[in-house]
Amino acid sequence: MPTLISKIPPLSTLVNQDEQIELRARAAREHRATALAHPNIAFIKYWGNIDHLQRLPANPSLSMNLADLYTVTSVTFEMGLNQDVLSINGTQVTGPGLTRVTASLNLIRTETGLNRAARVESESNFPVGSGIASSAAAFAALSVAGAAAAGLALTEAELSRLARRGSGSACRSVPAGYCQWLAGNDQTSVATSLAGPDHWNLRDLVVIVSQEHKSVGSTGGHQIADTSSLQPARVAGAESRLAACRQALLARDLATMGPVIEEDTIIMHAVMMSGHPPLYYWHPATMAVIQATQQWRREELPVYFTIDAGPNVHLICEAEHAPAVEAAARRIAGVQDVLISGAGGPARLIEF
Ligand code: DP6
Repeated sequence: MPTLISKIPPLSTLVNQDEQIELRARAAREHRATALAHPNIAFIKYWGNIDHLQRLPANPSLSMNLADLYTVTSVTFEMGLNQDVLSINGTQVTGPGLTRVTASLNLIRTETGLNRAARVESESNFPVGSGIASSAAAFAALSVAGAAAAGLALTEAELSRLARRGSGSACRSVPAGYCQWLAGNDQTSVATSLAGPDHWNLRDLVVIVSQEHKSVGSTGGHQIADTSSLQPARVAGAESRLAACRQALLARDLATMGPVIEEDTIIMHAVMMSGHPPLYYWHPATMAVIQATQQWRREELPVYFTIDAGPNVHLICEAEHAPAVEAAARRIAGVQDVLISGAGGPARLIEF
């Protein structure tokens, strides 16, 4: 039975640093910590690695944390436990899911010399398969809770690096608000916050057109990105799209930012569709939402789309337009649900 989510206190995007220090001290004493992290939506996408093991991305990326969606993870390093145990939303997980978590915990154990296995419990308040990269929130929360429970005091950059090794986009869920993840080497490829969550009242409306589990996930997708002849062109242009997006974001200029994020999405999906094997993530309703977005703009409703490795569409608009966008999206045939979120805070320890 899920138990973590029901117990968490009301969330604020602001984090009390004194409380974080106190929670870290307690975690180190008890070898146990609980952390919360938000997923993020990329405005400039990460697709393809120059090093798959270390998850060093082929290009820099930029994203927004999603305040209303979160994952809560608790890590307890237990004496007498002979291997890591993982439960996700109340269900025991073994196999590749557990192996990936153990690999992240091993980085922490190597750093601290701690010779104990961990019990990991993780819960999310958003559905799996909803077009939200659940691994981003999961590995950000795991890194923050795991480091604290092992008594490892890491900086934000070090936590972002640790999260990146678990899932690339997770490094962008460590800092607050709107984050930029630089390409680089194992030390320098981390995410930093460009602006806090209160910088801009943007909304992400996640339009769910399918909840099916995709056959090729992001990790598999990154591995075949280089098989597309379009990937070099995508990577070559990423830096300048990111600069344009960052400038527009800092100026709160959606009319400039919107076309850039749409172009970045379409270039990524062109890479996906032209790889070997090709990855077609879109469903007919995906295209219907794209075309509706263009129509809404002609009708003076300022909203832009972005799409991750799946069929669901993220509609980005300012808060004042969110109700009209939601109503219009719900009228499209094939739309099952719409989840709405503003910009979120950093990954952090929580009282438990
Ligand atoms: C399309 O970070 O989920 O959402 O490192 O293998 O876990 P792994 O991949 P992941 O890839 C995210 C891909 C994306 C674009 C993005 O979020 O930048």
